Amino acid sequence: MSKKLFIETLGCAMNSRDTEHMIAELREKEGYESVEDYREADLILINTCSVRERPVHKLFSELGTFNKNKKEGAKIGVCGCTASHLGKDIIKRAPYVSFVLGARNVSKIAEIIHKDKAVEIDINYDESEFAFKDFRSSPYKAYINISMGCDKSCTFCIVPKTRGEEISIPDELIIAEAQRAVDNGAKEVFLLGQNVNNYGRRFSGEHEKVNFTELLRRLSKIEGLERIRFTSPHPFHMDDEFIEEFAHNPKICKSMHMPLQSGSSKVLKDMKRGYTKEWFLNRVEKLRAECPEATISTDIIVAFPGESDEDFEHTLDVMRKVKFDQIFSFKYSPRPETEAQHYTNVVDDEVGSQRLQQLQSLQAEILDENAKRHMGKTFRVYFEDLNADGYVSGRSDNNIVIKVKGSEELLGTFQDVRITSLGRTILTGELVA
Ligand code: 5AD
Ligand code: SF4
Repeated sequence: MSKKLFIETLGCAMNSRDTEHMIAELREKEGYESVEDYREADLILINTCSVRERPVHKLFSELGTFNKNKKEGAKIGVCGCTASHLGKDIIKRAPYVSFVLGARNVSKIAEIIHKDKAVEIDINYDESEFAFKDFRSSPYKAYINISMGCDKSCTFCIVPKTRGEEISIPDELIIAEAQRAVDNGAKEVFLLGQNVNNYGRRFSGEHEKVNFTELLRRLSKIEGLERIRFTSPHPFHMDDEFIEEFAHNPKICKSMHMPLQSGSSKVLKDMKRGYTKEWFLNRVEKLRAECPEATISTDIIVAFPGESDEDFEHTLDVMRKVKFDQIFSFKYSPRPETEAQHYTNVVDDEVGSQRLQQLQSLQAEILDENAKRHMGKTFRVYFEDLNADGYVSGRSDNNIVIKVKGSEELLGTFQDVRITSLGRTILTGELVA
């Protein structure tokens, strides 16, 4: 009988891809199969996130629950970003944990499961050319890592400490992986990196200079590949050449994630983001001029140390000007080993909560306004998910989630859909015959 594996994945798309890599390695090398209920598993993994404090607290209560109800003899391992940053302290606090595997050490999963109380968290470990076994949770869309780590030094962010220095994966490996996915039926690739448009700055060995724009050009030559998405680009690296390629290459999906973080140039400076409010608005203007149909999403942090009412007003001002199609908003959370944790000009927690609420209600208004433009319009949708309620859903080229009544046979196909009803996060429509 095969051994059973349960993995819970927290955090971002990079973590989801790391989870796929671990499943692949454990299936092929160790004969594991995945189960949905941790109480049946022989091996329980939590792939953690440490970007904010709350998920870290949650980890220990969750570990306790897993330990209490797990099958006799089952092992528990902690992987991912919190594994990188807490290391052996995890085993000190939760001694029943068998091993700790950092976000930069995914390739060691098949070895570490045989060790007891092992901790592998070397953030300088180079996995950029490791040939992971193949496993994909979706047959329609392939997530592909294009770089590891992050070379920026945003003062709020723990990621450079959990995922290490930025190294790009050689483009020929990325192209071969995309080709394999297309050969297996995927029509879309989703390129992943902490800072994708900084691609090509450093490879682990000698390598031809290939920047992100050139990588996109090369990938788009793959026959049968219809859509290319990527996340996350950095506003600082959005040069004209990149925006023009994005706008005019028909295979690149017209949705751009532009993490603003703050609309105040002063706060941006304290965050060491490398751009100003004016630069950000200028890049949006360039993008909209080249590609009016593009949707734009963003990340915003409120109540960063020193953020005054006036600074916050600049963030709202950018929101009103850009009218983002989606916002991921967070209250600042001080993180260990970051520069900003030492800043003493903290913003009162209550003020932070009020700002978050104000921002979110402004965004709700903007979304309702944006959605009205979509009524009656036709979008080309790539269907990927079968919903329980007799609907199938997918995304338009510009990343709007759209559902229609229908069944399995629509999955993996492109269809024209006319919008008949609006919602903030999902639109409903009917197939255009
Ligand atoms: N506090 C709050 N939000 C944070 N993010 C990153 N670090 C922090 C922090 N210390 C947010 C940023 C980033 C997103 C992934 O998480 O907005 O873009
Ligand atoms: Fe979380 Fe950042 Fe790590 Fe992704 S890279 S799992 S968002 S800490």
